[in-house]
Amino acid sequence: MTENTQWWKKAVFYQIYPRSFADGNDDGIGDFPGMISKLDILKNLGIDAIWLSPHYPSPFVDCGYDISDYEDAAPEYGGMPEFKRFLEEAHKRGIRLMLDLVLNHTSDQHPWFLESKSSKDNPKRDWYIWRKGKGNNPPNNWYSTFGGSAWKYDPATGEYYYHYFYTEQPDLNWRNPEVKQAMFDMVRFWLDMGIDGFRLDAIGTIYEDEELPDQPVKATLEEMHRRQLNIKNDEEGKAVYKDFKAMFQYQHDLPGVHELMKELRKVVDEYDDRVMVGETDEIAFYGNGADELHLNFNFPLMRTRKITPKHVIENQLERLPKLPDGAWPCNTLGNHDCPRMFSEYGDGIHDEAIARVNLMMILTLKGTPFLYNGEEFGMSNVTITSLDDFVDPVGKYIYHLERDVMGADVETAIRRAAAWSRDKGRNPLQWSREGNGGFCPANVKPWLPMNPNYADGVNYSDEAGDEYSMWNYYRKILAFRKTSTALTLGEQHILSSDNENVLIFVREIEGETCLILLNMGDAKVIIDPKAYGFARRFKMFSTDETQCHLDGQNVKLDGYAGVILKANQ
Ligand code: GLC
Repeated sequence: MTENTQWWKKAVFYQIYPRSFADGNDDGIGDFPGMISKLDILKNLGIDAIWLSPHYPSPFVDCGYDISDYEDAAPEYGGMPEFKRFLEEAHKRGIRLMLDLVLNHTSDQHPWFLESKSSKDNPKRDWYIWRKGKGNNPPNNWYSTFGGSAWKYDPATGEYYYHYFYTEQPDLNWRNPEVKQAMFDMVRFWLDMGIDGFRLDAIGTIYEDEELPDQPVKATLEEMHRRQLNIKNDEEGKAVYKDFKAMFQYQHDLPGVHELMKELRKVVDEYDDRVMVGETDEIAFYGNGADELHLNFNFPLMRTRKITPKHVIENQLERLPKLPDGAWPCNTLGNHDCPRMFSEYGDGIHDEAIARVNLMMILTLKGTPFLYNGEEFGMSNVTITSLDDFVDPVGKYIYHLERDVMGADVETAIRRAAAWSRDKGRNPLQWSREGNGGFCPANVKPWLPMNPNYADGVNYSDEAGDEYSMWNYYRKILAFRKTSTALTLGEQHILSSDNENVLIFVREIEGETCLILLNMGDAKVIIDPKAYGFARRFKMFSTDETQCHLDGQNVKLDGYAGVILKANQ
């Protein structure tokens, strides 16, 4: 493997959620002209690659993850000409582009499904998963992860089709060789155009057990969701997660998927320097370390309400030794399916300081980091207050669950739905303090409500002008990371600390060592780097210069402050 084929090991990825990023034609939704206009800002920020959430034509039932044409770009984003211009302009600036690859399902409006549905003997009937019911019931008791049965009855042909996600997202039948051929052709279509890789959506859901056995969990999915809504601590969270796994065991991570990943890897390896990251935390998707996906997200790191040294250490000690030789880790704290990290891990008092420490962690732990758009301005969740403003069907489903199953009043149901809907972290980016945060004109309704804090300085223009802002912290730490091969490619050693609030670890590579000290508690700490074998002269990079001091060789850290000490040997 040449040095260049490993560019993705050193790169910092940045997820763009296209509808929310930047609106170039003043219609309240993001688009390619908007994205192009911000590329210089992203270059200046210091990211190396973009993961673009689905940009394809879509009826938008699942916010673009229901694709009706795989080989085109959504007209409302500017269509194919503007997509190509975006790709070219990103490449001109040395920024690579990774697309979202949704293999499991299409939209129910995709011409393939319309054909498949048209009659039992249509040549594309078997491109999807059609089964007879059991009497008047669906073929088995499987659920759709978004609520209700996984089977939808089609009265015209008298059979049910399978959908792991919404009814509008029928699963493709990957056991049909024609489906595989069509999808691999589509993969080559984009690779030929010059895109740099793919993020593989919901990759564990490709196959389901052909025998269709009933799943054994007694609780209904609604009961499970109710438990999930009331999770109080990480232990309860883990128990609920375990039951969900049992409930969906026949619909997830079936062995055949690894053969398929090996085939897909061969297709991608026909091209130089491309990369695939899986939306899965299953280590098995790394294959032997070189024959399936290049990267899989370390989601267990995100699955907590408070990032503590204990949580991080357990995560690293549990996960890293399991990776096969040659596999490379991949860490993130946020994406379009979860709350913004600023809100999720904050304590309501020290949110910005905590976010800075968490960012330092994600950029210094071994592995490729993925950032989520808007976090660099310190953007937090938006609170939706009206039923009409929900776009994500998850919000509408939770509203129904609260109102119709649990008997909550309207206000409570909206509040709970707002807390669970994925809309809260998909809020449009805040570029300035003008109306609608400069995302779109003040007199245009953005597709999702803005977080009003853009007017209080949480926006790009204000932050770029303030040397000590969150945005400038992101910019400086990304630049610092680039100066250090130890931080990008180095080995990692977690060190034990006598303070349970302090995370201490080393990254090192021949000729260079970094010691990372992260205070994840609110009390001040004094650390002597010599105690960790770090007696040389070093350069220091801190989360906040006013909160991290050198006193002789001692490092003094205020609450929620962290430093990277970098020594050249
Ligand atoms: C993935 C996406 C999510 C989507 C689902 C179905 O989990 O990240 O947003 O709803 O797949 O495509």
